[in-house]
Amino acid sequence: MDEFKDLRIVDNFYQTSAFFPMPTIEISTLAEDGSTTIGSYSLCFPYYIAGKDYYAMLLECRNSSNTAQNILRTGKCALNFPEDSKKLFKEAVRLGFPGETSKEKMEKCPYNLIKGMASEDDGARPLVMSEAYQVFECTWDDSLENAFEDKAKIGQLEGVEPPYRSFNGITSKFGCHFILKVDKILMKERYYNAIVNGVKASSFPRVPVDYGYRDSTNFWYTKFKRPIACKIPAGKEADLNGVLYAANRMDPDIKFSEDACKTLVKVPRVFLKLVLQGCVDWAKENNCTLITPVEMQIINDKRKQEKKR
Ligand SMILES: Cc1cc2nc3c(=O)[nH]c(=O)nc-3n(C[C@H](O)[C@H](O)[C@H](O)COP(=O)(O)O)c2cc1C
Repeated sequence: MDEFKDLRIVDNFYQTSAFFPMPTIEISTLAEDGSTTIGSYSLCFPYYIAGKDYYAMLLECRNSSNTAQNILRTGKCALNFPEDSKKLFKEAVRLGFPGETSKEKMEKCPYNLIKGMASEDDGARPLVMSEAYQVFECTWDDSLENAFEDKAKIGQLEGVEPPYRSFNGITSKFGCHFILKVDKILMKERYYNAIVNGVKASSFPRVPVDYGYRDSTNFWYTKFKRPIACKIPAGKEADLNGVLYAANRMDPDIKFSEDACKTLVKVPRVFLKLVLQGCVDWAKENNCTLITPVEMQIINDKRKQEKKR
């Protein structure tokens, strides 16, 4: 084992004991006077991505931050993703420096804040950043782990005493975690078209990657570089016989033609059953007993339409 050294794991290991690539996110929340305030965050990742009643992000933050206090109180926030620009990153670093009140911070903030698109039926929402390439408008799920009880701890800014929750709400003396239900994803038109019509290297937003706070001096980030497409391994495609075998065993009343199965050979094995089930469901709804390339085309068009919606 000459290749590696055994590095001590210390607090904030992701930035003190590692090189960990992270997103830069400006989180807007509502201050007590109803105004929008912004803090910078990187430890914010997809949490529920499929198979649940809703989609969610996970945010890890200091429980005394304006952002945490405001989420505990109102449950609402918006995750604004700025594009790569030294000017925007400098502002992110300023908004990420503790100590100033929301009012002081926001007086100097150059962002253009506008109303989002998510419903306000169950409470007012913070404004969103018009400079962002995408925005997730979110609501904290305070029902998980009965985290709504932590509202009683709002205002304890010098450290919260135990007991703590495991994964949602106040999780340590100075820390907290929020599971944030994604209510709306707002996307700039150019990138919306790229997602709906298929991405090219030139159609990605300029996404910065940050490496956090290091040496108690600097925040580090890398500039966006044109992304590279990497073909999926050819050997991993389902072969035609495999698709035919699986397709014609899905449902006794519904058959797939060989040509229809040819259109599915590029679907990775792990997703094949799900895709075939979608075809079978469509066939049943439409009184169809044989799926040919014509029906496959209709099913694909329907899927594309649903994606657009
Ligand atoms: C780029 C960047 C990313 C940051 N990420 C986090 C993070 O994920 N969690 C956290 O607790 N603090 C993070 N910070 C520090 C917070 O921004 C800092 O605590 C700030 O005071 C929070 O602002 P607020 O009190 O208005 O919420 C980050 C700072 C910067 C500049």
